[in-house]
Formats: sequence, structure tokens, C-alpha cells
Amino acid sequence: MKSIAWKSLKVLRRVPEVLLALAAMGAPLFCQAQVLSLEDWLESHRTIAVARLIENATKLEGAQSGLIVASPSKEAPDYFYHWVRDGALAMDVMASLSLDGTETERSTAKAILESYVTSTLVIQTVQNKSGGLGEPKFHPTGKAFDQDWGRPQNDGPALRALTLIRWATICMLRGDETYVRKFLFDSKLPSESAIKRDLEYVANHIEEPSFDPWEEVMGNHFYHRLVQRAALEQGATLARQLGDTAAAEWYEKQGNTLGEKLLLHLKVERPGVVTTLDQKGGWDHKRSNFDASSLLAALHTRSSPRFSERISHPSILTLANSLVKYYRTHYQINRGQKGILLGRYPEDVYDGVGFSAGHAWILTTLGLAEYYYELARHLQSASIPFNQEITSHQLVRRALRYSQGSGRTPILSVDAVSRALFEMGDHILLRLKDLLPSDGNMYEQLDRSTGESRGASHLSWSYVSFITALKARESCRAAFAKR
Ligand code: NOJ
Ligand code: NOJ
Repeated sequence: MKSIAWKSLKVLRRVPEVLLALAAMGAPLFCQAQVLSLEDWLESHRTIAVARLIENATKLEGAQSGLIVASPSKEAPDYFYHWVRDGALAMDVMASLSLDGTETERSTAKAILESYVTSTLVIQTVQNKSGGLGEPKFHPTGKAFDQDWGRPQNDGPALRALTLIRWATICMLRGDETYVRKFLFDSKLPSESAIKRDLEYVANHIEEPSFDPWEEVMGNHFYHRLVQRAALEQGATLARQLGDTAAAEWYEKQGNTLGEKLLLHLKVERPGVVTTLDQKGGWDHKRSNFDASSLLAALHTRSSPRFSERISHPSILTLANSLVKYYRTHYQINRGQKGILLGRYPEDVYDGVGFSAGHAWILTTLGLAEYYYELARHLQSASIPFNQEITSHQLVRRALRYSQGSGRTPILSVDAVSRALFEMGDHILLRLKDLLPSDGNMYEQLDRSTGESRGASHLSWSYVSFITALKARESCRAAFAKR
């Protein structure tokens, strides 16, 4: 069966306004998912995702504009905080919207980014228990969080720098260098600007262990090292552009050291990427040491010039395959399915509120979909070499079997392979279309047996991952159209 009719992808009709209006009137949308085509469902849910992100960033009582909360949920679980990591990822979506959104989205995104910059300048100097910029989360009023937590988390300042460097570049292209020099990169030491503070922090702490993105393990993580390296590299380019040559050289030097350390995480054999080295504390329960966060690291450095090289690296391909293989057999919800829902890592026991068993996460699942689309897109546009390393990889072979059927020699053209990978992304989106609540609420997790939503509701990061996966899908389709 050819499960996704290629031609039907071109039929794009817009229904989100109607759906939102109906939802606002309280009309039951129970039949929505079944009735809508995948295209219409994606379009309507993208509109909802953008609206919810804006709401989490601006409209909640008790939160300062720009300090986007992880989720509006205040109990079971309490996610009503501004996490530096989640915030940076969400603001990167705002930067995209400021360029390619509708007219209203563009101006809203710009205003949100401006208040994000203003509040970042405040929280960067608030006294906190980490004693520096590695503090993972703040009250959305900007006040420090003073209870025990896994701290520091040194991916935060790197992700924030990456997002703000992107925003600075956009501002400069618009001729707003004065704004950039004043608030984003002032070339001073100590700095009073957001990017330079973050980069100085990152450059001066590259050797130090910190807590992983899941806030459980203290050590040196592939995720942190990769986002830190990308931030330093791109930070060096910005610093040079603004005449801060000494800083540029320092960031490059530290970035290169991280480049060497990253190699220590890469393996030819399974699982492909080792999550954590030199564990120094936190939970000691991750025997398998492979993790969806390492795949997300490749995606979260998508603005880097090395992006295509990275996503096609044999270790990253193998990691993606290790994750698929694990979750397709261990989570009941995946049995007999082509679209696999991913969790965070095999030994996970965080159920979204307390500790029992780990479940599938929307943001890792959509990360896998995005990964398939990006592979397909870069193969189509020839920015990844089309070679045997790709065509013989198990991840690709599975995609070809699903697309072309087993029992015959697969067709191995660039077109056939990239289309098969694109379909793998769509298999995942089709599963989410079946499982997500029809009002568009994206929680943190989906139950590993039933697929029901779990954990924090309206999770900013889930919406972010939906929007970036869709963007990758669109770019991929554009690459197909060009050939
Ligand atoms: C909440 C964290 O955010 C989650 O990722 C973690 O598993 C638990 N706390 C345990 O620390
Ligand atoms: C728990 C996740 O593990 C962590 O990565 C995230 O930052 C927080 N929740 C907030 O969403």
C-alpha cells in the first residue's frame, strides 16, 4: 500500500480559521481529526501552536512579557517558570516568525523578541543559586528560583546565544546595528549585553560538567557540547563582524576544543552517540547511555554551516536508528506501526508528574520527524552526498521497505530515497493526528501504552517542535518541487 499519495500533498486548503472559531464557541471537534486530511490538520494545528506560544509568552497573569513559561500548568506538574532552555528554543521560532509569518505574526514576534531581550538582560544579573548564567529556570516575574534543583545547566546560555545571534543578524540586515550594539553585543568586558554575556560564560566554562537537558545527570553531555560549540562558532562570526576580534579568536579557540571533545562521544557501532561522559553526580541510572537529546542537539544547531554534515554523520544516523529500534519494541503504543513515537531515553521513569515509568514525548517524536524531513531535503538538494553510507544504512533501508514494499530489490535513486524518508516523517505526523486531542492542546507526553496525553499541558516546547518539524517538511517539499 502506498500510504501517502504524493500528489495529494499538493492539495492545500485552509480551514484553521473555521476550526478556531468553532473551538472558541465550544463546539465539539471530536470528528475533526478523522475528517481532515493530513494537510488540513497540520495547517490548523500550526495556527493553534503559534497562538499558544504567543499566549505562553505574553498573556499569562503573573508572568512578565517575554519570559515565556514552559507551560501554564501550575500544579501536577508546576511548570509555570521561565526555563532558559525552553525559552531560547521558543524565541528561535519567534525569530523565524518575524521573517516569514503573516503580517500580524511578524510584528507580534518582533515585540516578543524585544521584551525577551529586555528581560534576559535582567535575569542574567539576578543573584541565583547557580551563581552565574547556568541557572536553569526563573519565576516568570524574573525573580530567582530558590529551591533545590539540578543546577547549573550550561546548555541554557548557549541556546540563548544561538537564538539571539540569529535575532541580531536579522536586526543588522534591517539596518538596526545600533540596537544590536547596545543590547545584544557591546564588545565590552564585563559586558552589559545579552549575547556577549552568554558567550563569555560559555567560553569560560567549557570544561565544567553541568546537568543534562533532562535535569537529572551531572556530567559532560553531547547535547551541551554541541550547542556550546555552535554558539561559540557563530558568536565568533558576529564578534568579528562587530570589530571585537579578540573575542572572536577566544570563542573560536574554545569552540575548537569543544569540537575535539565532541569526537569522544561518537561511535561507529550502536548506539552511535554516547550521551554523557565523566559523570560527576545526579542520578546514576542510565546504563544504555543513548538519548534522544543527542538527536535534538543536531537539530538545535540547524543555523550552523555544518548542519548538513552533522545530520548525515554516520553516528547520528545510527543514533536515530537505535532510538527507533528501542522504542518500536518497548512502547506498546508503537507495536505494528510505521510512525514511531520516541521517549527521552530507555531508563526514563519520569511520567510527567512523578516517577513511575517513562512515556513518549511529543518533542522527541517530532524531533525524529524533523530529522527525516531534513535528511530528505538535504539529499534532494545535494547538500548531503548520496553514497553507500546513506543507502545501506538500516534507518534508510527500513524507510525504503515501507515505501517500496519488501521482497524486491529497492530502487536506490536520490528521489526514491528522499521520498521514502519524507514518508517516514509523515507516518509520524499521521500518528500524532490520531492521538493528539482535537482542541490542539499539546502536552509534554503521550502514554506509552494508550497514547493519552500526560504531564504538563500546553507545553511551549511541544508547540515549538511542531512548528519546526512543519517548517522542515515545507522546505523539503520545496526542494522536491525544484528538481
Ligand atoms: C523534573 C524534570 O524537569 C524532569 O526532566 C526530570 O526527569 C525530573 N524533574 C527529575 O529530576
Ligand atoms: C522537563 C524537561 O526534562 C526539561 O528539558 C525542560 O526544560 C522542562 N521540563 C521544562 O519544560
